[in-house]
Amino acid sequence: MKLKNINQPLTHEQVEVINRIIKKYGNEHSRLLEILLEVQSLMEGQYISKAVAYYIAEKMSLHISRVYDVISFFSALSEVPRAKYPIQVCESIVCRVNESDNLLNQLQSLLGIRLNEVTYDHKFIIEQVPCFGACDKAPAVRINGKVYGPLHSKEQIKEVLNSLE
Ligand code: FES
Repeated sequence: MKLKNINQPLTHEQVEVINRIIKKYGNEHSRLLEILLEVQSLMEGQYISKAVAYYIAEKMSLHISRVYDVISFFSALSEVPRAKYPIQVCESIVCRVNESDNLLNQLQSLLGIRLNEVTYDHKFIIEQVPCFGACDKAPAVRINGKVYGPLHSKEQIKEVLNSLE
């Protein structure tokens, strides 16, 4: 499920999802980074809009500056829309021994961008993330919550990219 992420009042669905994530982390201020990362992963454009940031601050009884401090400190978080398809390349051990470096290089060469860069049409960004629990598909990528793998050859990678409208 991808949630619309616009600078407008939040929908009931968005509020429910954010509430669920905050509750999952026990409304702990020390878990703010994890909360923001999880919320962001469910937002269209993979970013924390102003409306979302303010809602989280209010819900967690935090000053809004605390939320923005975390967003600006961690490069994995963004206040502006990033890309329609964030390609998350696993950088953990099982994928690494299965040549995730080669997968990363192939992606960079096919898309003409480097790590954490966005394509000119805002369609793709390549990121590295820790294990997302798909080690049986190593080397794997996750795109908007869906796992693709194992991806060894250029053809397999191209097939995945071409399947994304
Ligand atoms: S090590 Fe890559 S998904 Fe687990």
